Parts: sequence; C-alpha cells; structure tokens
Amino acid sequence: MKKINVAVDGTSSSGKSCMARTLAEYSGLTYIDSGAMYRAITLFCLNNGLIHDGKVDEDTLSKQINDISISFKKNDKGLQDTYLNDVNVEKDIRGLRVSDNVSIVAAIPFVRHAMVAQQQAMGKERGVVMDGRDIGTTVFPDAEIKVFVTCSAHERAMRRFRELQAKGDTSATFEQVLANVQMRDKIDSTRKESPLRKADDAIELDSTHLQLHEQSQWLINLYDNYQE
Ligand code: DC
Repeated sequence: MKKINVAVDGTSSSGKSCMARTLAEYSGLTYIDSGAMYRAITLFCLNNGLIHDGKVDEDTLSKQINDISISFKKNDKGLQDTYLNDVNVEKDIRGLRVSDNVSIVAAIPFVRHAMVAQQQAMGKERGVVMDGRDIGTTVFPDAEIKVFVTCSAHERAMRRFRELQAKGDTSATFEQVLANVQMRDKIDSTRKESPLRKADDAIELDSTHLQLHEQSQWLINLYDNYQE
C-alpha cells in the first residue's frame, strides 16, 4: 500500500466528513477534521468574550493564539473527539452558537496560518485523509488524491436540520439552518485568504442525490484505483 494524503474539500454538510472518516476506517489512514480546529478556536473566542456583534477582537486573539492547543483523541465508540487545551469540546463545537460565528474566525489570516501550519505538520509523513475547504489548494497542494464535493444548499440544510433534531437540539428552525448554511457558503467562498475553491486537479462529486454510503463508496473506489 502506498502511504498517501487524501484531501476532501467542499461546502458544509456536503457529506465530506463522513466520506473522509469512512475512507480512514477502510484504509488505515488517519482522519483529520480541519473544520473542527476552526470551530475550537471559535469556541475559545466565545468563551473568552472575544466576539462582539459579529466582530472578533483580533488584537487579543493574536496574542493568545499560540497558547491555544487543539488535539484529537478517539473516544470509546472509536470516533474522534476534539480537545481545546485538553478539554473535550466535541459537543460544544457542533452547536449553532459556534456554527454562527466560525466563518468570521476562519477568515482571519493569522488564524488560518496557525491552523494550516498545524495541519501540514500532521500530514508531513503522509498517511492522512483531511477534510476542509482549502486542503487541496493550500494545506496539501501535493495530495495524491483530491476531491471536491458539492451539494445543493437546500439539501445540505435539510441534512444538518435532521442531525440537530436527532441530537435533541430543537433550538433552530429549518429556515434558520438554511440561512446559516447560505451565510457560511458566502463568507467561505468570498474571503480573501484561502477561499473555498476547487483545486484545478481535484475530482468533483455532486452529492445532492447520493446517499452517504454511496458517496463514501465512491471515494473508496477512487482510493483502490490509485493503489492498483
Ligand atoms: O466543515 P465545517 O462546517 O465543520 O467547518 C467549519 C467552518 O470552518 C466553516 O465555516 C469553514 C471553516 N473551514 C475553513 O475555513 N477551512 C477549513 N479547512 C475547514 C473549515
């Protein structure tokens, strides 16, 4: 087996995390959820009063960014949990409070530089499947496999809404979830620093009409073909 890096980029709720995780289980590659890192920084900002009226206190954050440690550990179900300064924040980073603010934090250049450096260090020896927005363009431009996943905004909002409901989180209506998806798409794809963009050599998959297991199998097939 060749030890390779796989980059899975795309919009939020396009099913890319699930595909990447399934490939990691199948192949033995290490799965890294780069969005969880931006979410953890956002939680740090919220917990420390660094976000006011949709604006981040960049001065204070820039002084503290090097003291923020983000790591991943497997839980007893075999799933990866995100830790912020050694505290398990997996549940907190998935709620709407973080989702509503993460795009503005992820658009800050010094935040991106710090995260990209950590992500590149994780993939230095290869053997990583990482999902995000800029993995194929900025983090691992030399990844052996690059995938770009698209999906209609309505379908993605429906998926996220069902996920929240299944977790017992009834604080948001479908319209609010859809508005959040559309707002994040806009900020992610129009920001100056590493906007969401398909790498020229990435293979595109439209997941609007696919089941999660079908899109995961599509990525496994791509991986198997590469290994042949
Ligand atoms: O994949 P996600 O929805 O958990 O990502 C959360 C946010 O982080 C999203 O608004 C985009 C941003 N992000 C990014 O800018 N770059 C990445 N590599 C991953 C996520």
